[in-house]
Amino acid sequence: MISHELIPNNVNLSRNRKLKKALEAWHPKFMKWWNDKGPAYYQDKEIYLRTAVSVEPSGWAHFKYVKMPEYRWGIFLAPLEGERTIHFGDRLGEKAWDFIPGEHRKDLRRLIVTQADTEPASVEQQRLLAATAPSLYDMRNLFQVNVEEARHLWAMVYLLQQFFGRDGREEAEELLYRCAGSQDSPRILSTFNEPIETWLDFFCFATFTDRDGKYQLGALAESAFNPLSQSTRFMLTEEAHHLFVGETSIARVVRRSAQLAKEDPEEDIKRQGGIPLEIIQKYINFWYSSSLDLFGSENSSNAANFFASGLKGRFNEGNRKLYPDPKCLEGTYVLEVPDKEGNLREEHIPLRKAMNAILRDSYIQDCERVMKRWNRQLEKEDYPFRLRLPSVRFNRKIGVYAGHHFDPEGNLLTAEQWERREEEFLPTQEDRDYVQSLMYQVIEPGKFAHWILAPKKGINGKPIDFEYVRM
Ligand SMILES: [Fe+2]
Ligand SMILES: [Fe+2]
Repeated sequence: MISHELIPNNVNLSRNRKLKKALEAWHPKFMKWWNDKGPAYYQDKEIYLRTAVSVEPSGWAHFKYVKMPEYRWGIFLAPLEGERTIHFGDRLGEKAWDFIPGEHRKDLRRLIVTQADTEPASVEQQRLLAATAPSLYDMRNLFQVNVEEARHLWAMVYLLQQFFGRDGREEAEELLYRCAGSQDSPRILSTFNEPIETWLDFFCFATFTDRDGKYQLGALAESAFNPLSQSTRFMLTEEAHHLFVGETSIARVVRRSAQLAKEDPEEDIKRQGGIPLEIIQKYINFWYSSSLDLFGSENSSNAANFFASGLKGRFNEGNRKLYPDPKCLEGTYVLEVPDKEGNLREEHIPLRKAMNAILRDSYIQDCERVMKRWNRQLEKEDYPFRLRLPSVRFNRKIGVYAGHHFDPEGNLLTAEQWERREEEFLPTQEDRDYVQSLMYQVIEPGKFAHWILAPKKGINGKPIDFEYVRM
């Protein structure tokens, strides 16, 4: 049952005076954050947005025009499916927790704060984009993602305030204080401090970084701590749209670029005002490699502890066809580890310590499927260029490959070779300036910027020329 108070919720907030007080004290601070660091434009305009109103799979959201500051951010837990037991790790078969066992408080706090920090961060990173929106449809999608990331912040703040007492209330304040890209108090994870300057960055971010979110949330949805599992499961329903925005938008750009190439006698996409596929590839290289860092170190005792104590599982942990062994006390994960010179040797890591790498591998497989679908756009245009994911070793700042240079095929490079060739692999300032030069705002319903195709369908069955933002 959803209650429609100031803060819509299905956590019985009206009967929980302490939590209600904490959340009501936090609410105005959140609104100040939203106004100062959220979308810089069109806060006073009516946007055609989806709002979560129920946790039932059928009809969990409704669509209507709202002004963003009036969006109903709420706290929703997916329902528990009967009595849950812990289904992996050392405590296999024990009853799952409605409260946090003291010995796991510190670890859970860390997991929740790290996840929570990414939610407001992405809103901050994307705050200026509306000024160059390629269409009203795209602008609406941006704002939808923004309000839902802010709701994810609410979901995590609920956990902090309800289960971590004073520490939790302090963490909730800190979440509004740190800021993406800030020198003094940056966001916790580096991808969430990278500037999102153009819509090409945004679409790559929504494809690769939101997809990391999907895998992290999926792993937390397996948690022995019921409220964390329930919150993250509901967040995943919203997350699916963010991934849709990323993937389908890049597909529209890629296909447009191929069309423009075919229109030019020398296949010069730039001359035709589009984004060259080589540049799109470099943006993929950047955002994908940065997002891989979010999984953490391939060989990690923290990851082993989280798994052992039932805090964080693998993606789809409950699928015993996929993972027949719920304990992972035996067996190893084979990882190619560079020595001091960067030459690769195989190392066998105890399975539990490799949980970050295992989660990352699920993510990589998913990204491979996305690349196939993007390349299908090129096939449909009968254009021979193909996009690809760079090697997992490429451009890494965290984990065993950090500190060495590899090209996108995964070949070791010397520092000199890297310096000479980096501009083949990653966006240069010139590339960024070029992409930026294409960004201009289009606000006539049904019209799209030159560098991107219209989508196949509108949102929620509405036509493409629907007025998604009422200017
Ligand atoms: Fe999110
Ligand atoms: Fe997201």
